[in-house]
Amino acid sequence: MTAADLHAPLRAHLTTHRQRLLDELFEWLRIPSVSARSEHQPDMQRAADWLAQRLRSLGCQTVEIWPTAGHPVVFGQLVVDPARPTVLVYGHYDVQPPDPLELWTSPPFEPTLRQVNGEEKIFARGACDDKGQVYMHVMALEALVQHGGAPCNVKFLIEGEEEVGSPNLGPTLTQYQARLAADVLLISDTSMVANDVPSLCVSLRGLSYLEVEVTGPNRDLHSGVYGGAVDNPVNVLCHMIASLKDERYRITIPGFYDAVRDLTPKEKEGLARIPFSQMDYQRKLAIGATRGEAGYSVLEQATSRPTLDVNGIWGGYTGEGSKTVLPSKAHAKISMRLVPDQDPDTITRLFTEHFTAIAPPTVKVKVTPHHGGAPFVTDLDARGYRAAEAAMTQSFGRAPLPAREGGSIPILALFRQVLGIPTVLMGFGLDTDALHSPDENYGTFNYFKGIETIALFHHHFLLTK
Ligand code: BES
Ligand code: MN
Ligand code: MN
Repeated sequence: MTAADLHAPLRAHLTTHRQRLLDELFEWLRIPSVSARSEHQPDMQRAADWLAQRLRSLGCQTVEIWPTAGHPVVFGQLVVDPARPTVLVYGHYDVQPPDPLELWTSPPFEPTLRQVNGEEKIFARGACDDKGQVYMHVMALEALVQHGGAPCNVKFLIEGEEEVGSPNLGPTLTQYQARLAADVLLISDTSMVANDVPSLCVSLRGLSYLEVEVTGPNRDLHSGVYGGAVDNPVNVLCHMIASLKDERYRITIPGFYDAVRDLTPKEKEGLARIPFSQMDYQRKLAIGATRGEAGYSVLEQATSRPTLDVNGIWGGYTGEGSKTVLPSKAHAKISMRLVPDQDPDTITRLFTEHFTAIAPPTVKVKVTPHHGGAPFVTDLDARGYRAAEAAMTQSFGRAPLPAREGGSIPILALFRQVLGIPTVLMGFGLDTDALHSPDENYGTFNYFKGIETIALFHHHFLLTK
């Protein structure tokens, strides 16, 4: 069977089994696998067991749950012929916390179908990021097995800690390096430009995430008694943060841009080919204007330039009513998205040095690094990329554009280092899927088109040189 022969029976299969393919995903989505919350530990195990069971029942000869110092990793393997190439699928079954719950139209762990502007969407935490996208690979393999057999060997490595920075995946990769050997790493955890503009993700940004604490007086003070004389750490923190960008929105940390590689003319050209409407962009976000680093287009700003953003800020009195207090402490969580060739450890060090240096003598500053990850660029001329291009062209009827994306999958650099194989980022989400937000959703079009494209990919990969 070739990709051409498979296409019609594959589409028929997806029509026949449509309801079951949704029901199964819904069952998995009902397990609240929130990696960041310790009370969900049993759910993490349940979500891993559930996936393992599905991989066994569709014919994987080896399915194991690898314990880690954190949440378990699911490994599955289907060998059709040791002489054939092997596709390694990576993804994550953990999801972001669903809060704030009151902003969800339907509960985050009770998946439901709703129409949005004439498109049917699955609403649930994890619908797109990443359980829905992982399950496409499981269902694609099932379809292949039932229609002529899988053309390539397949391995699954589905982790439970991506949303908390994959702190324990590194040791797992090293420990099981030999068993993870493959010819390509295939990942669906990114987006496409639009349902009628298929694209393959060719770069992701890196990340440096840290927390700062600014301490003023040794206790909260009466703001009438001390206010005006004693410096207020919340005011100081706001001031310090505001100074981290200049009026052209350049980040002011000395050395921050030293390793930034400008886009090549070819990369710029690629970005310019992506359809973009400033009006639509603003309308969808209900903003009157965009603002980013001067001299770059919105797409460049959001995918190919480094950033510095406050992700959370707190201190002083935030309860009901008012309390006249001069707080002792102020806090913020700050993330910086990084681009080639910025190194997360270097950036974290530069931030810490600078932030400490600009603190006035009235306060003490503590910087605590959280997780990080290097930026990543895929190999456009690799066999896997060409197979993905062929599969998308066949399923969408249109060749995919190479697209840069601004999010991060911090473990990718380590994958490259440990396994030494090219990565293909073939994701099927959309910008409007509300990842990490209330009402996360995933189009049923995207779910089924994803299954179709992935199944075709396996056939193309076997034949692509
Ligand atoms: N799947 C996302 C990354 C992503 C989203 C890439 C959209 C491209 C388009 C992933 O699960 C994620 O959320 N990553 C985090 C980093 C992690 C350390 C929490 C991110 O980008 O914030
Ligand atoms: Mn993800
Ligand atoms: Mn995510």
